[in-house]
Amino acid sequence: MALETRTLSHDDLDGVWQVLEHAFGGANAPEDRDVEFGLVDPKRFYGTYDGDQPVATGGSFALTLTVPGGVRPVAGVTWVGVSPTHRRRGLLTSLKRRMLDDLHAAGEPVAALWASEGAIYQRFGYGPAAWNVSLSIPSKAAFNRPVTAGDVRLTQPDAAVLAPVYDQVAARSLGWSARDAKWWEYRLHDPEHRRSGASPMLAVLADGPSGVEGYALYSTKQEWHEGMSGSTVSVREVVALDPATRARLWRYLLDLDLMKTVTAYLSGLDDPVLHLLAEPRSARAQMKDNLWVRLVDVPTALAARSYATDVDVVLDVVDDFCPWNAGRWRLSGGPAGGVCSATTDAADVSVNAGDLGAAYLGGTTLLARAAAGHVVEQRDGALAAASLAFGWPGPAPYAPLVF
Ligand SMILES: CC(C)(COP(=O)(O)OP(=O)(O)OC[C@H]1O[C@@H](n2cnc3c(N)ncnc32)[C@H](O)[C@@H]1OP(=O)(O)O)[C@@H](O)C(=O)NCCC(=O)NCCS
Repeated sequence: MALETRTLSHDDLDGVWQVLEHAFGGANAPEDRDVEFGLVDPKRFYGTYDGDQPVATGGSFALTLTVPGGVRPVAGVTWVGVSPTHRRRGLLTSLKRRMLDDLHAAGEPVAALWASEGAIYQRFGYGPAAWNVSLSIPSKAAFNRPVTAGDVRLTQPDAAVLAPVYDQVAARSLGWSARDAKWWEYRLHDPEHRRSGASPMLAVLADGPSGVEGYALYSTKQEWHEGMSGSTVSVREVVALDPATRARLWRYLLDLDLMKTVTAYLSGLDDPVLHLLAEPRSARAQMKDNLWVRLVDVPTALAARSYATDVDVVLDVVDDFCPWNAGRWRLSGGPAGGVCSATTDAADVSVNAGDLGAAYLGGTTLLARAAAGHVVEQRDGALAAASLAFGWPGPAPYAPLVF
C-alpha cells in the first residue's frame, strides 16, 4: 500500500503516540500523554500512514530560544519515531524532507532538537550546538569560600512562584526556552510511576529583597546499605538571579542530612557549582551532547543573531539536504547584529550546514569543527576571526529541559 504523509489533527494524536511508544520501546500513562498533548499544535506535526495505519511521526514546537543577541523563534523538533515494522525504509528521511521544506516555506530559519542518538541527525545538517554535564557530587562537599544556605523555604513546586525567576534567567541564558503554563506543567509533571521510589519533586525557594530570587527543584531517594545511608538528592534545576543566591541553593542541596550523593542530570559545562567546590575533582561529570541545531535558512538565521566580535567573512556553504543554502554568503556582523547575503566574492571559510548549526549558539567553535576536518580555511586568518565572532564570552549554552 502507498505511504502518505500529512499534517495531523487532534484526533490523530492517539495513533501517532502509539507509534512513538513502539518506536521508543516504552509505555506511558494516560496522564503523561495528556501533558504532552497539551504542548502540541497538530498543524506542526506529521503522520505517515500505511493505509489508515500511522507508521511514522515527527513535528515541532514553536519555541523561543535565547541565542547570542536575544530571544528568537526556533522550531523545537520532537516526536520523531518510525514504527519498528517500517524502519530503515527511508520514512525518517522523507519526514525530514517534508518538515524542513515546510519550515523553510513558513520562514522559520532555525530548528533545534534533542537526539535520542547523536548519529541520526548529522546527515540532515544538524550540528551539536550545545553540551551539558551530568554531575554527581558527594554530599557535604566543601566550598572554596564561606557560603551558608541561610533562610530558604521548602514548598510544593508552583509555576506562578517559579516563573518570574525563570523568565529573567532564561532571557539571558543561551539555549534556554521560554515557558508558558503548558511548558511549566511539563516541567513540573512528576507522576509517582516515574519516580522510581524517590520523593515527589520539591521546590526550595531563596528569598531576597525583591521576593523569590532563586529556586531549586529536586527530589530525594532514601537508601540504606549495612546501616549507612546511600541516599541521593536528584537536582532538576537550580535557577537564581545572582551568584550569591545560586551558591546558597547549592549549599542547601549539598547539606541535606543523610544524603550520600547529589546528582544533577542536566547542568551547563560552566555550572557555577564546579567553581564553588573546594575540590572540583570530587564532582564526577559526564559530558553529553545537548541541543542539535539546523539552520533551515542560512542567511536569515545568521542575520538573526549577534557576534562576539566584528566579523566580515565569506562562507562557502555545502548543504546537500537543503540546497537553497548552498553557495557563498557574506556575513558582516558584530555585537549589535549581523547582515548576510549571497555573494560571488571568493570564499574565506568552507563549512557544511552542520558546522553552522553547531556554531549557532556560540557553544561549539568553528575552530573545533575545523580541528575535526569539517571546516576548511580558504583565506589566512579568516577562520580564527570567524570562530571568535561566532563564539560567546559568557557561560556555555545548554538547554535545561529535554523536549
Ligand atoms: C531513528 C529512526 C527515527 C530512524 O527512522 P528510519 O525511518 O529507520 O530512518 P531512515 O530509513 O530514513 O534512515 C535514514 C538513514 O539514517 C540511518 N539511521 C537511521 N536510524 C539510525 C540510527 N539510530 N543510528 C544511525 N543511523 C541511523 C539509516 O541507516 C539510513 O542511512 P543510509 O541512508 O545510509 O541507509 C527510527 O529508527 C526510530 O524511530 N528509532 C527509535 C526512536 C528514536 O530514536 N527517534 C528519534 C528521536 S530523537
